[in-house]
Amino acid sequence: MSITKYNGVLFGGDYCPEQWSEETWMQDIKAMKTYHVNAVTLNVHSWCLYQPEEGPYDFTKLDAVVKLITENDINIIMATGTAALPNWLLAKYPDIMSVHIDGVRNKPGKRVNFCPNSPNYLREIRSMCEALAEHYKNQDNILLWHLSNELEGKCYCDICAQDYRNWLKERYGTLEELNQKWNTMFWGHFYSDWNQINPPVYANMVYQNVDGMGIDLSAFPTETIEYLRFMSHSFSHGFEVEKEAILKYIPDAIVTNNFQYNRNFDYDIITKTSDVVAYDSYPGQDDPDYMTAFNYDLCRGINKQEPFLIMEMSPNQASWARCAPVKRPGQAAYIAMGAIARGAESSLYFQIRKSRSGFEKFHGAMIEHSGRTDTRLAKELTEYGKALEKMSNRFLGSKLPSKVGIIMDWDCGWGVEIPSSIHKNMKYQSEVVYYYEWLFSQNIMVDVVRAGWDLSSYDLVIAPMLYMVEQDEADNIHDFVKKGGTFITTYYSGIADKTDNIWLGGYPALFSNMLGLWIEETDALKDNQKNAIQMTAPWLDETFECGFMCDLIHTEGAQILGTYKEDFYQGSPCVTENSYGKGKAVYIGSKPEKALVGKLLEHYCKEKAIMPALHTQEGVEAVVRIKDEKKFLFVINHNKTIELVKLDKMYKNILNDEMVNIVELSVYGYAVLEEDVLITGKRYGKQSS
Ligand code: GLA
Ligand code: ZN
Repeated sequence: MSITKYNGVLFGGDYCPEQWSEETWMQDIKAMKTYHVNAVTLNVHSWCLYQPEEGPYDFTKLDAVVKLITENDINIIMATGTAALPNWLLAKYPDIMSVHIDGVRNKPGKRVNFCPNSPNYLREIRSMCEALAEHYKNQDNILLWHLSNELEGKCYCDICAQDYRNWLKERYGTLEELNQKWNTMFWGHFYSDWNQINPPVYANMVYQNVDGMGIDLSAFPTETIEYLRFMSHSFSHGFEVEKEAILKYIPDAIVTNNFQYNRNFDYDIITKTSDVVAYDSYPGQDDPDYMTAFNYDLCRGINKQEPFLIMEMSPNQASWARCAPVKRPGQAAYIAMGAIARGAESSLYFQIRKSRSGFEKFHGAMIEHSGRTDTRLAKELTEYGKALEKMSNRFLGSKLPSKVGIIMDWDCGWGVEIPSSIHKNMKYQSEVVYYYEWLFSQNIMVDVVRAGWDLSSYDLVIAPMLYMVEQDEADNIHDFVKKGGTFITTYYSGIADKTDNIWLGGYPALFSNMLGLWIEETDALKDNQKNAIQMTAPWLDETFECGFMCDLIHTEGAQILGTYKEDFYQGSPCVTENSYGKGKAVYIGSKPEKALVGKLLEHYCKEKAIMPALHTQEGVEAVVRIKDEKKFLFVINHNKTIELVKLDKMYKNILNDEMVNIVELSVYGYAVLEEDVLITGKRYGKQSS
């Protein structure tokens, strides 16, 4: 079953015919047909095309494009166009422009620069989306509706301030409750009237947006986190308005929104309205392969392990990069296949035709400025388009049979990166990926999950730096372990609740009993400072470096697997394991060198008989997707050499229908293999018995 209304992998991308003449459209269609494009996204930035000034919507120009696309048997992903607001609207209603944290109101000139709570904005987007949906309600080749476009920014205007207070009233009921939950006796933050509560302001930040990623680092962490949450809800409300407007005329419309990981948002909130989650994948040239893979797993996780969409990739350069190398031969398809292996059911690019001017005039595109289809890239895209056609609908709807869950929680990211902690170098996602990396290198499939989700399908759950946790989430993890699961967590976990109040009684209070220990103090080590861990486990007797943070642990029932070698806490426990119910809870009190992470994960995976998708040589990724008891094996070559990959049995290579038990992968090469027989009673991710 497809997650869109198309029974195949979507191939195409953002198309902006509004920037071009009709003569160019004809060339574009020809190129699209050459590439085997089956879907284009229209109207991402073209509200001003059908409403250039205040007055009725005139869809004549968009109709002409829709007609041409339709006549050529190409499907449409219809964007709502609300990410780029027409200038007449901004001029008429200045409150639609967002206000920055420094109190300065933005001016037109960019996009996604609106106040999500402006009633004028909400009314106008509703009315436009209703008109758009009504106009295209019978357009059968619209596969899905694409809300707005890749969110960024926040708003700190007076309207948002008032809505924030109302949101807090609903959340806390009384001011007394808020004062108590926010612990406002600290520094006399006490509020005696709701109107005293304001969005964070620039002057109260302790460090301003230190790493350029847009997180404002406040002197009142609880308030900053609440405002970030409120902003996610505000943007999500805008999506709901758009969705309602569409469903009013097209009750069975499928909607999506596309995102890149931006630490300002809680993606569980802002994707609430999405029937299917879509990710914009722009791996940096220096990004390690495991990072790109993690982002795909993260996206599938947001979609609750269901297949997802790649809404954008660059087929070539990403011109916003400091230095934008061309993609090497084969690289465009290789990046796309990495996503498909991990659950994506589309290969959509930004953009179909490279724009002639503006900020993205040198951004990669399927049609270059030359307009030619006899270029290296054009040939590669054509081959890839054909390959996707060959794959057809075979693995649509299939799932990854992961037995390992890794917890990544948006609140924890905010909690550790807003600087009231003992180390200002905290990068939450890097801590999570520090554990993911080894699993990726071993082709062990991982689901990215939350502490409160159903964990019963996993044998091993890893929660690096699970700083913020509520009692019910801790109970969920206890339950997982009691029933036989293995849980691994690290320093700085189980420390605070979601309003950033520390759980008292010795860290990590909510997990102490399960872990069989309590932590008296946590040492912070400078960047070049190291300690070491002497492992004394029955299965590991070696020394490893560690650093960053060192917990000073008292065991209360836990078995000591490793101790510190240096400093005044030399000889005290650092790595422990505790039996709890039918399962095990493992604690790692410092950041060990990667070799120890590997040894620990190897041991606990082995204990649970968790197996890789395929044993391969280093640098060859393997992922399994299962559909109706049928197994699909994806193998991808990350090495700069040709690789011969031995398979565990005979498979059908679905790109050429040959039966194989070995495949040769070129540099950036991949293979998609199908098990030829139905699997009976076998459990993937586990050793077959
Ligand atoms: C984002 C946007 C696109 C385009 C690309 C360029 O993902 O959604 O409209 O600007 O960046 O990389
Ligand atoms: Zn606002």
